[in-house]
Amino acid sequence: MDPVKVGLLGLGTVGGGTVNVLKRNAEEIARRAGRGVVITHAASRDINKQRICDTTGITLTTDPQVVVSDPGVQIIVELIGGDGLARELVLAAIEHGKHVVTANKALIAKHGNEIFARAQEKGVMVAFEAAVAGGIPIIKAVREGLAANRVEWLAGIINGTGNFILTEMRDNGSDFADVLAEAQRLGYAEADPTFDVEGIDAAHKLTILASIAFGIPLQFEACFTEGITRITREDVNYAEELGYRIKHLGMARRTNKGVELRVHPTLIPERRLIANVDGVMNAVLVKGDAVGPTLYYGAGAGAEPTASAVVADLVDVTRTLTVDPENRVPHLAFQPDALSELPILPMAAVETAYYLRIQAADKPGVLADVTRILGDVGISIEAILQKEPVGDSDATIILLTHRVLEGQMDQAIAAIEALDSISGEIMRIRLETLSA
Ligand code: NDP
Ligand code: HSE
Repeated sequence: MDPVKVGLLGLGTVGGGTVNVLKRNAEEIARRAGRGVVITHAASRDINKQRICDTTGITLTTDPQVVVSDPGVQIIVELIGGDGLARELVLAAIEHGKHVVTANKALIAKHGNEIFARAQEKGVMVAFEAAVAGGIPIIKAVREGLAANRVEWLAGIINGTGNFILTEMRDNGSDFADVLAEAQRLGYAEADPTFDVEGIDAAHKLTILASIAFGIPLQFEACFTEGITRITREDVNYAEELGYRIKHLGMARRTNKGVELRVHPTLIPERRLIANVDGVMNAVLVKGDAVGPTLYYGAGAGAEPTASAVVADLVDVTRTLTVDPENRVPHLAFQPDALSELPILPMAAVETAYYLRIQAADKPGVLADVTRILGDVGISIEAILQKEPVGDSDATIILLTHRVLEGQMDQAIAAIEALDSISGEIMRIRLETLSA
C-alpha cells in the first residue's frame, strides 16, 4: 500500500522532533500502522533556518495554506502553536477533508468544541495526544483504557516548565528567572512563558482532561488558574518541615453539585508518588470507581517525548483511515450528543485544606485572635508552626487547616488581614492529600 502523505506545519522543537522520530523509526512505524507514514511537505516562517532535523526530501514553504490545500496530503500535523493562525489552518484542513494531528493545547482547550463539531460533520479525525502531558499517553489512557469507569477525580503535574522551576528552587536554591531561562533554552517553555508560570498552559491541559474524564464540553474560561510566581523558598521549606511538597497541580473533581476545575500551587504529602515527580517530568493521577487510583508518568515536554505522542496519533489516524467515521473513538471520549451539562463550580464552592503563612506582630494574644477567627467560621486547625522573628521583624505563623469551603476561607482571611497585629497579605496555598 502507498505510504500516507503528511503535511507538517511548524519545524520547531516538536516539528523537528517529529521529523526525526518518523525517519529513525520508519520501518517499525510502518509495521505498526500497516503502511509507511511520510512527511512530504512542511511549512515554517524561515525555510533557510538551521533545524534539529534533516528536511531532505520534504518540500518546504513559508505558506502553511499551501500545505493545507495540497491535494496529495492526507494528514496535517499542526505544530505552529497559538490559537489564531493555528485555528484557521486546522479548520481549513478539515474543510479540505484532511485528518489533523496537533500538539496545541491552547487551540483544543479554547476552540476544540468548534473544531470537533466540524470534524464530525466532515468525517475526519482530529487527534491531540501530545497536547496533554507531552509524551505520556494520557488521552488514550483516560479515553479508551478507563472507558469502563466513572472517573471520580484526577490530579496532575501537567506543566513541565513549572515543575522544573519548583524542583530547581527546592533542590538547588536556584533563582526563578535563571531556571525559566534554562527551560526556554531546552525548548520546554511556551512561546509566551507566562503561560507556563501563571498556570494557563496547565489550565488548557486540565480543561481537555476534564472533558474526556467526565464527558463535558471544553470550558477553558471556567477553569480557576493560579501561577507559581508567588511561591517563595520559605514556603517550600516550611511545607517540607510539615511533611509536604509544593507542586503546581491541576485538579478536576466530580461532586454532586458540579465539577471542580482548578490549577494552583498545592501542598501534597511527601509520601505520595506524585509528590516526588521532579524536573520536566509530568504525572497524572486518575481515580476511577472500578479501577481505583492509577498513575501515569513521563516526560512532559521536549522535542522527542512530545514527538512520541504526535507520531502515535499519526499511526492511529493511519490505521483508522478506512474505518467508518461513525465507529471511530469519539474526540472527547463520549459520543458528541451524549455530553453532560454538569456545571463547573465557582471556587467559593470548592472544598479543600489550606496552608496559611501569616506575618504577625510578636506579642501576646495574636495567635489567639487568629485561631478565634478561624473557629468562628468553622475552620479547624491541623497543625501550627511559629517561627521566631529575626531582630525586630514580625513573627511568621504557619497553619495547616482541615478541609473547608473556599468561601469560608475567604471570609476568615479577610478578617485576619484586618487585625492591626497582622502585616501584609496572608499567603494561602491549597492542600490535597490525594488519598485513594
Ligand atoms: P516552536 O516555536 O519551537 O516551533 C513553532 C514552529 O512554527 C516554528 O518552526 C515556526 O517557524 C513555525 N511557525 C510559526 N509561525 C508560523 C507561520 N506564520 N507560518 C509558518 N510557520 C510558522 O514551538 P514548539 O515546537 O515548542 O511548539 C509547537 C506546539 O506544540 C505548540 O502548540 C506547543 O504548545 C506544543 N507543545 C510543545 C511542547 C514542547 O515541549 N515544546 C510539548 C507539547 C506541546 P520558524 O522555525 O521558521 O520560526
Ligand atoms: N510548555 C509546556 C510545558 C510544554 O512546559 O509543559 C508541554 O506541553
